[in-house]
Amino acid sequence: MLGRIALALSVLYVALNTVLLRWAAQEPRLIYFDDEEHFNATLAKLLRPRYVGSAGHSAVRDFIAEELERLGFIVTRDDFQEGANFTNLAGFWNVDADNFMMLTCHYDSKIPKDWNKEVFLSATEGAVSCGILLNVAKALGGFLAEKLHKKSDLGLALIFFDGHSSLSSDPLDEARLIGSAHFMDTEFIPIEKMAVAVTLSYIGAPSQTYASHFEVTDDLHNMIADVELLLKKSGQLTDCHVLFEKKKRYDNDLLDDHILFSELGVPVLHVAPQEVPKVLYTAADNAENLHWPTIRNMIKILRRSVHDFLEQWDFMSIMRIRLFYILI
Ligand SMILES: *[C@@H]1O[C@H](CO)[C@@H](O)[C@H](O)[C@H]1NC(C)=O
Ligand SMILES: *[C@@H]1O[C@H](CO)[C@@H](O)[C@H](O)[C@H]1NC(C)=O
Repeated sequence: MLGRIALALSVLYVALNTVLLRWAAQEPRLIYFDDEEHFNATLAKLLRPRYVGSAGHSAVRDFIAEELERLGFIVTRDDFQEGANFTNLAGFWNVDADNFMMLTCHYDSKIPKDWNKEVFLSATEGAVSCGILLNVAKALGGFLAEKLHKKSDLGLALIFFDGHSSLSSDPLDEARLIGSAHFMDTEFIPIEKMAVAVTLSYIGAPSQTYASHFEVTDDLHNMIADVELLLKKSGQLTDCHVLFEKKKRYDNDLLDDHILFSELGVPVLHVAPQEVPKVLYTAADNAENLHWPTIRNMIKILRRSVHDFLEQWDFMSIMRIRLFYILI
């Protein structure tokens, strides 16, 4: 069984790199239009105290599920109890696909301890990342419906984890990653189907830059950095510092849900800054202290990158089947 998974993952890994090679040869064609009204409205729904057990927690959960459905995704929710009631949410295009590009974030926030629970909005802790994913999904809607839908072997999965930091206050405690651990334990998506996992976190503070944290997705990271440069050159970005730097920081990766995927050999890209935002876990982690040029450009860069990845994959399917037979 493990041998089969390893083989499947190595096939995926080769596929991933071939997709990237082909991607490198392409220039962006399609232009996506911004829908910041949608992002703002989405963020307003997410920006409320949403620690496990709170009214905001279930309201945000229901909002994300409804929004995914509205955007044409097939929504699956997994309710489970582990010291508290948690729910992981997943939205799929091509739910029966053999491979998935997974985009993940967590929607719950830490339980506030010492102060007013009503001002604990945790904007950069996860609200902005979830808002970005939903906005990217909306922008890609036409492409997903018209193009991705016709591919049977590749799907897109948006995963919204719960229980990210609920029951432990130690930021280095992996046991606190309750939602993603449960996701892996229940094989919500079988591991051999995970082509790549892209995890967003702690996005939205000023002066953030994003480096590569894993060797296996170095090329993917660099491709995204190139997408940023191309968009900048063609005048499509908001005035802002460079976000995706072509730097390797393998020893400086913030602990997050992606780590469980990485430990099992899934290629992982962690879209997270070098350090946690200064406002993290404080009342100041709110809308006023967000850095909008970072958010705007992150949306533009990611929607283009996800589009290109999904588009390039198609070309690979025949070759991948051949590779599979060579490898076995
Ligand atoms: C979205 O919200 C930000 C911050 O409040 C604001 O600057 C921006 O103009 C808003 N965008 C739209 C389209 O309303
Ligand atoms: C969890 O949900 C169950 C069933 O809905 C409920 O009876 C229970 O009180 C909940 N537990 C907590 C800790 O909220």
